[in-house]
Amino acid sequence: MTTTETERPQTVYALGHTPQEYARLRMQARAWEAATGRLLDQVGLGPGASCLDAGCGPGETMRAMAERVGPAGRVLGIDADPELGAKTLAMLHGAGHRHCSFQTKDLTTGEPIPGAPFDLVYARLLLFHLPQRAEVLARLWDAVAPGGYLLVQDYDLRSISTLPDLDWVGELLRVLTGAFDAVGADVSAGTRLPQLFAQAGAGTPDGTDVAGRVEPLVSGRIIMEGAFRSVLPIALAHGVTTEAAAAATLASITRDVMRFPDRPMLWPLLIGAWKRKDRS
Ligand SMILES: C[S@@+](CC[C@H](N)C(=O)[O-])C[C@H]1O[C@@H](n2cnc3c(N)ncnc32)[C@H](O)[C@@H]1O
Repeated sequence: MTTTETERPQTVYALGHTPQEYARLRMQARAWEAATGRLLDQVGLGPGASCLDAGCGPGETMRAMAERVGPAGRVLGIDADPELGAKTLAMLHGAGHRHCSFQTKDLTTGEPIPGAPFDLVYARLLLFHLPQRAEVLARLWDAVAPGGYLLVQDYDLRSISTLPDLDWVGELLRVLTGAFDAVGADVSAGTRLPQLFAQAGAGTPDGTDVAGRVEPLVSGRIIMEGAFRSVLPIALAHGVTTEAAAAATLASITRDVMRFPDRPMLWPLLIGAWKRKDRS
């Protein structure tokens, strides 16, 4: 791990904490439900297991874990956002998953992970945001029980595209990349997962997985336009774009959705990697 990674100041979360962003996260989580469920099954998550969802957000993966481990198991969600955490726990308990709990915690602080060790430690779309991603991943690896799994899924934004290309897609990607870069996020964190596992001391992943979604522009753009709107305050603050340029991009999206609603749009790739810890 480099010195810069450990000395960086406190992380800024570029997507923010608005009700619109919470709704976008829920929609995004449902879109990836099958891609994540497939990997939970791949690592054999079953009744009685203990799980951690690091950066659990709206808790949709906690729900998938809770269904698999049943009441004999336990599911802990950790997130730096207490308001979102409270909503997540209310949703899970409302659905009858009383074996789920939540703790507010900034995972970059260097403290040990509460409740460890776990049979499964999972993180989706978390490391992407953290300048200290290798350091945090090392602590998540430490929280895996002998014989348990570390499983991570993260984006590579470079795949965002339409066919044929539309002129605003490049600008959307430029603004997203500029805003995330400005706060030390890594828009290709998914592709870098094998390197990150090695840097974190977990070694080479036992397996990797690439999930994608192609949707008509009319529905496919909702998540991407939402992300653009969510990072806009950071993009403006760092001079990545201007109010006028952002308004023009949003107007182009609206125009093209009406002109080309069926044009295929490829989402960011969601890349997974997992590693089992030796029993000894
Ligand atoms: C893009 S969301 C993903 C949420 C969820 N994992 C999912 O895939 O639906 C990232 C989550 O990480 C949380 N987060 C960001 N920085 C964090 C930190 N330093 N410590 C703990 N959680 C953090 C955010 O609050 C947010 O809920």
